Formats: sequence, C-alpha cells, structure tokens
Amino acid sequence: MRRASRPSRRVSPDAEAAAVPIGALTAWQGLERARLQAGQRILVHGGAGAVGVFVIQLARLRGAHVITTASAQNKEFVLGLGAEHAIDYSAERFEEQVQDLDAVFDCVGGDTLRRSWRVLKPGGRMVTIASNSEAAEDPRIKDAFFIVEPNHQQLAKIGELLDQGKLRVFVDAEVPLCEAAAAYSRKVESRRGYGKTIVVMPALQNR
Ligand SMILES: NC(=O)c1ccc[n+]([C@@H]2O[C@H](COP(=O)([O-])OP(=O)(O)OC[C@H]3O[C@@H](n4cnc5c(N)ncnc54)[C@H](OP(=O)(O)O)[C@@H]3O)[C@@H](O)[C@H]2O)c1
Repeated sequence: MRRASRPSRRVSPDAEAAAVPIGALTAWQGLERARLQAGQRILVHGGAGAVGVFVIQLARLRGAHVITTASAQNKEFVLGLGAEHAIDYSAERFEEQVQDLDAVFDCVGGDTLRRSWRVLKPGGRMVTIASNSEAAEDPRIKDAFFIVEPNHQQLAKIGELLDQGKLRVFVDAEVPLCEAAAAYSRKVESRRGYGKTIVVMPALQNR
C-alpha cells in the first residue's frame, strides 16, 4: 500500500482526538448499513474528506475493494489510504468507469448521488450522509440517508484500531475560532486539503 502523505507540521493530540468521533463513527455506521463484506467493491464519494478518509480505511480493513472520487490534488493521498482506483470528479465521469458495485458510500449528494444509482449491481446498497440528502423527498434517498449516532462500543473499537496503527487520523488545519469562517471558505473555494479542519477554542489555545 502507498503511504498517505501528511503535513510535516505537528498536529496537537487534542486536534487529532477531535478529528476522530464524528468522521470515524459516521464511516463505521455507514459501512454497517452497507453490509460491506470482504471481497466486495465499494465506491466512496469524497474519499479525501473528513468522513471519507475513514470510510476508505475501514472498508479496506473489512477486506473490500475501494474505488473513490477525489480531486486531482488528492489522488495520491486517497491511493495511499488504500483505495485501488481514484477518479478525478472534475475531469472524469465515475459512471463511465465503474459498474456492478456492491455498495456506494456517498459523502457528496446532489448530482453525484443521482448518478450513483446506476453503478450499483442489483441488490447493491446505497448509503448517503450528505447534508443535502437530508430533506430529500425521494424514498430511495430517504432510505439511504442516515445521521450518525453516538456509540460507545464502536468508538472503543475505533480507538483500538488507532492504537494499533491500523487506522490513521488526518488533520488538515488547526484554526482559532475567529478564523473558522475564513478557513471554511478557503477550503471550499480552493478545494485543497484533506481530512478534518479543527477549530481551536480560546480556552485551549495556549495550553
Ligand atoms: N449524516 C451524518 O451523520 C453526517 C456526518 C458527518 C458529515 N455529514 C455530511 O457529509 C458530507 C461530507 O462531510 P465531510 O465532513 O467529509 O466533508 P468534507 O471534509 O468537506 O469533505 C467533502 C469532500 O467531498 C469532495 N468533493 C467535493 N465535490 C465532490 C464531487 N463532485 N465528487 C466527489 N467528491 C467531491 C471533496 O474532495 P476534494 O477535497 O478532493 O476536492 C472533499 O474532500 C457533508 O455534507 C456533511 O455535512 C453528515
């Protein structure tokens, strides 16, 4: 497996800890819903994102074959996480490259989700977490959408995988609260970075 590159700057343990629960639990619960088994093929949309980095890694740990969509800048990164194939969503149409999949894990929604049904094989499972899927009227999307729930046992298992070095955390940036909005806009506009952006609250900043 290629190594996923990561920034050379130090990331605080607090930031790494903060990057885990929502991303990893969402990935874990989505893969449960997808009933993903060893040897099956899954397409992960948004594999370089805060949730996607965990979906790729946990799907690989289940022994699945992972294909992911990501921007060109993040191609090497997602391959390093264990994806076998990365599709640049701004230059290629994923539905022309993959078919007959066992599952799709969608972190993007909208048009990406609409185009994803056709790449599933009969009986294939769709999972979407994208916020724009939440208010959907389409019964198929309602069925595919879920919201992460706290789960102590799952979080403990995730902690074990982290301790064993089988799962890795990726913090894109740590920013003070007063810069949170600007950092969010930068990330959305520049489409650079991967993993989670952490907002550091004032009380923690000078520890
Ligand atoms: N339902 C739940 O329980 C739950 C839990 C957590 C998050 N969410 C939601 O899930 C979504 C993803 O969350 P996140 O924290 O992972 O977001 P994120 O860190 O912003 O990551 C989103 C990723 O999507 C990629 N992307 C953007 N446009 C794309 C496209 N057209 N095709 C494929 N990939 C594309 C980006 O890739 P590049 O960086 O490579 O451009 C980015 O890495 C958000 O809507 C969030 O609100 C829901």
